[in-house]
Amino acid sequence: MLKNLNCAELNKKDIGKKVKLAGWVDRRRDHGQLIFIDLRDRSGIVQTVFNPETSKAAHEIASQLRGEFVVQLNGEVSARPAGTENLKMPTGEVEVLVESALILNTAKTPPFYINEDIDVNENVRLKYRYLDLRRDRMKSNILMRHEVIRYMREFLYARDFLDIETPILMKSTPEGARDYLVPSRLYPGKFYALPQSPQQFKQLLMVGGLEKYFQIAKCFRDEDSRKDRQPEFTQLDIEMSFVEEEDIINLLEELFTGMVAKLKPQLKVNTPFLRLSYAEAMEKYGSDKPDLRFGLEIGDISDIALKTDFAVFKNVVSGGGKVKAIVAPGCAAYTRGQLDELNAVAQGLGAQGLLTISLGNSPGLLADLTMDMVKSRASKFITVDQVKQMAERLGAGMGDLLLIVAGKPELASAVLGEMRKEIARRLNLINDKELKFAFITDFPLLNWNQDEKRWEAMHHPFTQAKETDLSLLDTSPEKVHGRHYDLVCNGFELGGGSIRIHNADLQRKIFRIFGHSEEKINQLFGHLLEAFEYGAPPHGGVAVGIDRFVMIIQGSETIRDVIAFPKNQSGYDMMFDAPAQVTDKQIDELHIKLKMEDIENSKS
Ligand code: AMO
Repeated sequence: MLKNLNCAELNKKDIGKKVKLAGWVDRRRDHGQLIFIDLRDRSGIVQTVFNPETSKAAHEIASQLRGEFVVQLNGEVSARPAGTENLKMPTGEVEVLVESALILNTAKTPPFYINEDIDVNENVRLKYRYLDLRRDRMKSNILMRHEVIRYMREFLYARDFLDIETPILMKSTPEGARDYLVPSRLYPGKFYALPQSPQQFKQLLMVGGLEKYFQIAKCFRDEDSRKDRQPEFTQLDIEMSFVEEEDIINLLEELFTGMVAKLKPQLKVNTPFLRLSYAEAMEKYGSDKPDLRFGLEIGDISDIALKTDFAVFKNVVSGGGKVKAIVAPGCAAYTRGQLDELNAVAQGLGAQGLLTISLGNSPGLLADLTMDMVKSRASKFITVDQVKQMAERLGAGMGDLLLIVAGKPELASAVLGEMRKEIARRLNLINDKELKFAFITDFPLLNWNQDEKRWEAMHHPFTQAKETDLSLLDTSPEKVHGRHYDLVCNGFELGGGSIRIHNADLQRKIFRIFGHSEEKINQLFGHLLEAFEYGAPPHGGVAVGIDRFVMIIQGSETIRDVIAFPKNQSGYDMMFDAPAQVTDKQIDELHIKLKMEDIENSKS
């Protein structure tokens, strides 16, 4: 090795020791006689000192060093002179007196500072990701990701799970998102698809008798990137035979509580994890992945609203809509400008508008509220009793602000679901040292696709229906619940899974409900249906987004910050410049013709 110790390992007990270090020049300070080089390697930084009286040759080399040069140093660990210690650094009590130095490589001036945590355009960071990875924040994200994956593996190995790889080239079968396709050279006109998840493989492994499977699995979905979405991402994928919902749920709870306690003990975790039905989550939080670190629950005030003289309320409720609201505590004194901002947020989310009612700008009892203390665009059409009833229903008091949205029930809930996050941010109600986990259960099995006028799976077609709801499949499919569970944390969907269908007839029936013909069913899913005819065991599983989890525990803004080489916001690889053109020969071999017209259009 070109080094025999890591920089950050050095401390007082090493004083007098001869060391061989190698790393990057993090910072250079030239005090004329003495040159100080902060040497950085993966472990961290140690101060090194070049004194011509110790070694003229080394001092000569130090004067040539620039930021990010790669060097090898030999020297002796020494105590820093009294008064120059830096107790903020693990190595701050010592320095290395350099006896010889070798430049292993030079470096151009980097396009951004490596040793300062300043904002840099993300595309520049991604183009020079290898430099970005040298920065502290990125390094700690990548190290944490490594620790997470290691913990997951060890946890599952200790529980007798088998770590099994599944193919990356598979067949395109409708699973939810758009597939990435790979044209076949050997089979003209045919395509492989990259797996959106190993879902069918892991089920087939259960049919194969392997009972407990996991994989740190790469998944590919051709969908637009978001802060918590990448076209390729990594799941902890699990499948087990002979299990019920509680087995998987308990396994996950044990995994995540243990993992956070070990890797991020400074984060508070709620145990047991909360449990909410899908209906309850939608009703109270307007989302199936609610942030439960704060309350601000949504309340339904449709019945009170209907009795007011406010035409908007009356029209909405009589047309089958709902009037819903949340309370912004202590916000009664919000200015016109602040209210306009909230209104703009609500409209941006699709609401017609946001009605606010400000409950008296001073402390006191709700019972003493009079109409002249109330501020609202609708105050002429609402009585003080109606305002009090609304406030009571919502748990509001004097000095609070009611935010009301009237509209289609799902829309009103969804808008208020976002508004509650907005208010929580504004009021600083979010504890960023807390992870609030919950399992969401009792999802509907099916979803009506209005555009295609057909049923589709709420999650994926392999989810088992609740036993008690099976008889409703033919008569009222919308009422059937699935044996599905999601794991959510701090407003993100971390994972999802279910107990699966393991019976060929039932699986066929579900495909028929989706409107697939027998021929299509056999063509797309014949392999799975046939497998189910050879003694498929009852089975179930889950997949958890590793990128998302690391993003949450690291407090990162996007999953791009916890992936070594992510695509940018537009799904583009800035470093490789991919996707990229290929040669005509390559295209020919794939029996494909490019539509040059489309390509020209996309350029303009
Ligand atoms: P699902 O599609 O819910 O389930 O995915 C499971 C988890 O994977 C993460 N995830 C993503 N992370 C980053 N970028 C994406 N584009 C992305 N899409 C999903 C999320 C999500 O909760 N096969 C089923 C699981 C099962 O039923 O066992 C599946 O893939 O954290």
